[in-house]
Amino acid sequence: MGARGAMEAMAGKRERVFSGIQPSGELHIGNYLGAVQNWVQMQDQYECFFGIVDHHAITVPYEPAEMPARVFDMALTLLAAGLDPRKCTLFVQSDVPEHTELAWILNTVTPLGDLERMTQFKEKAGREASVPAGLLNYPVLQAADILLYRATLVPVGEDQVQHIELVREIARRWNARYGEYLPEPQVVVGPARRILGLDGKAKMSKSLGNTIGLLESPEEIWAKLKVAVTDPARVTRRDPGNPDICNVFTLHRYFSSPQDQAWSAHGCRTAAIGCLDCKRRLADNIVAALRPIRERALELRERPEEVRRMLAEGAERCRAIARETVAEVKRRMGLTGSFLPVAKPAAAIRT
Ligand code: TYM
Repeated sequence: MGARGAMEAMAGKRERVFSGIQPSGELHIGNYLGAVQNWVQMQDQYECFFGIVDHHAITVPYEPAEMPARVFDMALTLLAAGLDPRKCTLFVQSDVPEHTELAWILNTVTPLGDLERMTQFKEKAGREASVPAGLLNYPVLQAADILLYRATLVPVGEDQVQHIELVREIARRWNARYGEYLPEPQVVVGPARRILGLDGKAKMSKSLGNTIGLLESPEEIWAKLKVAVTDPARVTRRDPGNPDICNVFTLHRYFSSPQDQAWSAHGCRTAAIGCLDCKRRLADNIVAALRPIRERALELRERPEEVRRMLAEGAERCRAIARETVAEVKRRMGLTGSFLPVAKPAAAIRT
């Protein structure tokens, strides 16, 4: 076996990872710490597929003219954040039509009641005047995303855990009906599974406007942090606070050195420092941590065709696997498509 064959054999043994992110236009530090940082680490060890899930993003009202830029910006930011197309496959979901084909198939084994009790569905449906069926079936498409690649590991933040549990149930039901073929994936969550927004209350989320974007400038980061909510007990500079309940301190844990964390915790408890001092130090540390990502993104923006080529190559790799899985799924379900007529020459069709 040549070197390439040996590598492929090794690759065949590696566990497969799938995860996805919506093209929200902005990758924020919540997505980054909760999921993307784990993706960057996992690409060294596993065979990884990461999808920019535009079909998921159309389940809520959106502006079609903005979608291409949202997808492109997400790809660019993910690459800048450390995804390496030589180590993982990055692609756009709608470039691989088998995602929606398998989603339809999986709909037929998904209990309606399970979909209706999904927390995210209830939250999102509560905000819409008219609820599209796509919002309800959203986790089924997510199941298709994962099961199409027969992935066994799914790194996500806490808000997606319930969906992945449902994916396991869908796989179980399909296997029970048509034979063991789709592995039940394991969820992988890291320590930063739920990053709160700068309001200190809700999950950090673009739709809530409480984020820090990975590509924001030092000035933008400071303007947002300056007004971030801290321990309400610190009414004046002299009131001591409790870092354990302060979201700004939680962010220090992810961006600051042990020395800075100790300085901030002690200063807060003794009122030796004010919240603004604590935020200034955090802003400096976040800016320093994000600087290389921002620089890489600026470089990549100069070479958009490279980003597009990487996505095209990613989709090609996905399609080869996706076609195989769907063919086997359909074969087991008796959907053999054997009634298609043999193609006739163009002249014969005209007459
Ligand atoms: P999305 O686009 O909302 O978020 C992408 C990833 O970031 C995580 N995340 C967070 N983690 C910690 N704190 C936060 N504040 C925070 N906000 C977001 C999410 O948990 C997620 O891991 N439905 C999915 C996308 C998807 C998917 C999939 C994921 C589609 N198909 C298949 C896994 C497998 C979503 O909307 O993620």
